[in-house]
Amino acid sequence: MATRAKSKDDKNTGRVLITGASAGIGAELAREFARHGHRLTLVARRREALAALAAELKKDHQADVQIVAQDLAKPGGPAAVLKAAQAGGEPVAILVNNAGVIDVGPFADADTAKITGLIDLNVRASTELISRLLPGMVERGAGRILNVSSLSAFQPVPTMAAYAASKAYVLSLTEALSEELRGTGVKVTALCPGFTETPMIGEIQAGSAAVRGMPKQLLSTPRDVAALGYRALMAGQVVAVPGLPNQITAAWAQVTPRWVTRYVAGFAARRGG
Ligand SMILES: NC(=O)c1ccc[n+]([C@@H]2O[C@H](COP(=O)([O-])OP(=O)(O)OC[C@H]3O[C@@H](n4cnc5c(N)ncnc54)[C@H](OP(=O)(O)O)[C@@H]3O)[C@@H](O)[C@H]2O)c1
Repeated sequence: MATRAKSKDDKNTGRVLITGASAGIGAELAREFARHGHRLTLVARRREALAALAAELKKDHQADVQIVAQDLAKPGGPAAVLKAAQAGGEPVAILVNNAGVIDVGPFADADTAKITGLIDLNVRASTELISRLLPGMVERGAGRILNVSSLSAFQPVPTMAAYAASKAYVLSLTEALSEELRGTGVKVTALCPGFTETPMIGEIQAGSAAVRGMPKQLLSTPRDVAALGYRALMAGQVVAVPGLPNQITAAWAQVTPRWVTRYVAGFAARRGG
């Protein structure tokens, strides 16, 4: 039975826009918001996957779901998404910047187009969505933004260098905005999962023997990650790290000199790469 949202940013004040909702953590976030009675706009490139999820959410939760198939990494992608999402005159009350891609392997071997595409999605698109939506949220005195960052935001990660740097950007942006937005009624949260069982983990495991060898118990489930993300967002928590082992890793990286974390990360990458 769905628990109806009660906050000022609930179903009465606008839709929840979730990017990267066709799979993984984004799909679970969509289920979590639907369970809590929100109206949803789901975004990704694969229309069929979005349509299948929308049908499931309508059936299971009687959810009001709009889908927008769009490549957010393309110039004009974020603007097109917002035009479609707001065509009915309803504002976006909650933005969930979840869509993201990874590249695993030595940076010198990386495909330049893949790296710049990663920055276009993980950094540029999410920043553009925030920049376009924030003025309206501040004006309304209400709004929430959930930015999906990563545990890799807390330290450099050799063999995932651009990805970790993109997630450090997302975390830093979130923390800065959380201070700028004090007193405005708008809250921003960074969700920083560790390795999570989604389609993305297959790509990470293919490129990293160390991650392939990780005990399954150390992987989070997307459902747990989404549930924590929802709770943290609604509680106005600025940084949320799911799972005790990940919280210890994040805390360690924050109290250790940078050269030590860098060296340990490099040593682990050289041994397990
Ligand atoms: N899995 C992990 O271990 C892990 C750990 C920490 C953080 N994260 C972060 O969590 C978020 C979700 O990751 P995930 O593991 O759920 O990944 P995933 O399973 O690969 O799903 C990625 C989602 O992003 C969408 N997407 C990819 N490129 C897109 C584009 N150009 N335009 C629009 N949508 C696009 C994909 O849909 P389409 O293919 O249909 O476009 C899909 O819905 C990412 O930001 C990721 O960095 C993941």
